[in-house]
Amino acid sequence: MNEEQRKEMSQIQSKDPNSADQNNLNRIKQKTSDDFMKYFETTYQPPNMRDAQRRKKKDTDVLYDFSIPEDMDQSGSGKKYMIRTYGCQMNEHDTEVMAGIFEAMGYESTSNTKEADVILLNTCAIRENAENRVFGEIGHLKPLKLENPNLVLGICGCMSQEESVVNRILKKHPFIDLIFGTHNIHRLPQLLKEAMFGKEMVIDVWSKEGDIIENLPRSRKGNIKAWVNIMYGCDKFCTYCIVPYTRGKERSRMPKDIIQEVRHLAAQGYKEVTLLGQNVNAYGKDLDIEYGLGDLMDELRSIDLPRIRFTTSHPRDFDDRLIEVLAKGGNMLDHIHLPVQSGNTDVLKIMGRKYSREEYLELVGKIRTAMPEATLTTDIIVGFPNETAEQFEDTISLVEEVGFEHAYTFIYSPRDNTPAAKMKDNIPMDEKKARLQRLNKIVNQQSADAMSQYEGEIVDVLVEGESKNNPDVLAGYTKRNKLVNFRAPDSVIGQIIPVKIIKAKTWSLDGELVQEKVEVN
Ligand code: SAH
Ligand code: SF4
Ligand code: F3S
Repeated sequence: MNEEQRKEMSQIQSKDPNSADQNNLNRIKQKTSDDFMKYFETTYQPPNMRDAQRRKKKDTDVLYDFSIPEDMDQSGSGKKYMIRTYGCQMNEHDTEVMAGIFEAMGYESTSNTKEADVILLNTCAIRENAENRVFGEIGHLKPLKLENPNLVLGICGCMSQEESVVNRILKKHPFIDLIFGTHNIHRLPQLLKEAMFGKEMVIDVWSKEGDIIENLPRSRKGNIKAWVNIMYGCDKFCTYCIVPYTRGKERSRMPKDIIQEVRHLAAQGYKEVTLLGQNVNAYGKDLDIEYGLGDLMDELRSIDLPRIRFTTSHPRDFDDRLIEVLAKGGNMLDHIHLPVQSGNTDVLKIMGRKYSREEYLELVGKIRTAMPEATLTTDIIVGFPNETAEQFEDTISLVEEVGFEHAYTFIYSPRDNTPAAKMKDNIPMDEKKARLQRLNKIVNQQSADAMSQYEGEIVDVLVEGESKNNPDVLAGYTKRNKLVNFRAPDSVIGQIIPVKIIKAKTWSLDGELVQEKVEVN
């Protein structure tokens, strides 16, 4: 709890016991004590991470039957919803689906918590600090709930899939109305109804994934770039990672459904699509047909859409067919995010990554041969249990050898119920922090070096809109995912235009419009 929230809490506690707030608090407590205990003993099913770990053979059913139940149709008319999103692109996209469901019920979106009738926190469980941020926010929202008992406060996303989180909310944050997980967002209308009209906290978390529901509505953020799920879940079970428990087993969407969605986005004028999955290179393995990510990309190549990316790649499943298709260029971008996690084979083994340092470097060699211009970026974990100084040196040398142009770097964070969390760890936190700092310095330098090579070059920029830091400047990305800021009229937003790079910074490039081409556009 931060200083501000602490102050808010003490204000609530010091209020007159007869005040409206206190009465509301009593009502909420009442709701969650007697009735809830009864419910807890009879109906409550906590999420079970052991169940979540079990993979069943049965094929996932694909359903096209989503609809808003009659009694919830237009139930949001005159009301507002707000969704706060934490975590990865998968969560960002789930938020777009939930926003689509809200809007199909007649709700409008708001970014003002005071105006909202429903607030959902779409949470991430990947590291402890991600979870702490959410618990901080829950504390922050409590006064709102006290002021307005009709407000529906819900927690969804990956944290909801954890037993310990749900139990903590039950014990410490009983004013939460609704908890649901990642496998049942299509039930949002029913869950909202239960939360609004029922007496108890509604908890609906499925430990096992369900079917793939194809016709969910989506309210996409923006009309230039779009996300498209190609698969759900992860079967890799890296020993440090919680995702296989929170997202269930790997399930690929049918190629025809993906192709249709991408075609539709192209027809609507979108300029870039990012295909999403936790391990996109495993795409198709669970389907009855011989078909992988390379085959899918080859079909998508013919769609009239300027840019197609995918994330995230796992080195183990990255095959030659995919490299061959990417090398054809066109709308296939030669920026590959290829998380390595560690440069030491022993650490990779304990992490359960299923490749060695040498195999990773061999894959990088193949990619570079087929796509000499390719930009490589990565994810790295520092301070895995008992990582030695020498093992860390291997990570540094690999980063230098590959020449990653960007890396997301993390200090290892133990996650409940994962194998690594049970490992004894003798490395002090100060040492881990020092390693992270050293790594970041090298990564930043490599990023700055890569940027400096663009000075004087003309690059194609997909213009997204005003820069976040300066409304007088427009911002967009190159094919290789470099952020470019430049001055230009708003009319170029949504276009891909040539920009001359004037100055390179560590994380971005400053450019100027190449005038003649814009007139042609
Ligand atoms: N599916 C992707 C990664 C998803 S999570 C992949 O396999 O590459 C994003 C990143 O978070 C991971 O690449 C890893 O670097 C980091 N991460 C995952 N679990 C972590 C943990 N317990 N502690 C620290 N970092 C972690
Ligand atoms: Fe986690 Fe590994 Fe799956 Fe990535 S591949 S989501 S790191 S288990
Ligand atoms: Fe976080 Fe879940 Fe994504 S744990 S990183 S939101 S899959």
